[in-house]
Amino acid sequence: MTIKAIAFDAYGTLLDVYSVGALAEKLFPGKGAAIAITWRDKQIEYTRLRTMCDRFVDFWQVTGDALDYACDAQGVDLTADARTALMAEYEELTAFAENHAALTRLQDAGMPMAVLTNGSAGMIAAALKAAKLAGFFDHVLSVDSVQKFKTAPEVYQMGPDAFGCAASEILFVSSNCWDICGATWFGYHTIWLNRYDQPMERLGVEPSARGKTLTDVADYLLG
Ligand code: LAC
Repeated sequence: MTIKAIAFDAYGTLLDVYSVGALAEKLFPGKGAAIAITWRDKQIEYTRLRTMCDRFVDFWQVTGDALDYACDAQGVDLTADARTALMAEYEELTAFAENHAALTRLQDAGMPMAVLTNGSAGMIAAALKAAKLAGFFDHVLSVDSVQKFKTAPEVYQMGPDAFGCAASEILFVSSNCWDICGATWFGYHTIWLNRYDQPMERLGVEPSARGKTLTDVADYLLG
């Protein structure tokens, strides 16, 4: 295999979204986990519906809409302050513990790297800065540029366009299995980081490789 560059998904892959659920639990004891799950599920569902019907609004808006839905579904009163605090979490996510060491190994090996995310340009820039990851990436590719969300081919096309090589020469890294399926269909070399011990999606497509953390990405490419 010839891998010339790496494209990383952001939320759940580089950035740990656990703190979002933790704050939800603090604000709404006993309902935090349910709110966090519905919030994340609706967030992704809305990205797909909006893309299918050509009704793009950015990921910040989608994320807020999904939060409103999740709280409504759980019957909790989302005050303006609580909403602001929960949304702010998205700009202050922490990196997974192994990220800095793994990304440093890849950077030292001369591997060009990008983030390729549903996140809006503003929220991903803030989150990468807060997590002290911004310096690792040659490109931060937001779907804002194409006004469609994953798994639209136009989104995945941003990788080859940015790096000037074929998708098959780019390693696409995500902990979201559905994202890995979309990227594999598009033609990327893919590694699924199964951080949360989830079953493989039944979509008739397999990742090129599997791992659990970013350390596995560095080991896969550098040995
Ligand atoms: C992203 C979401 C899907 O960063 O995690 O694109």
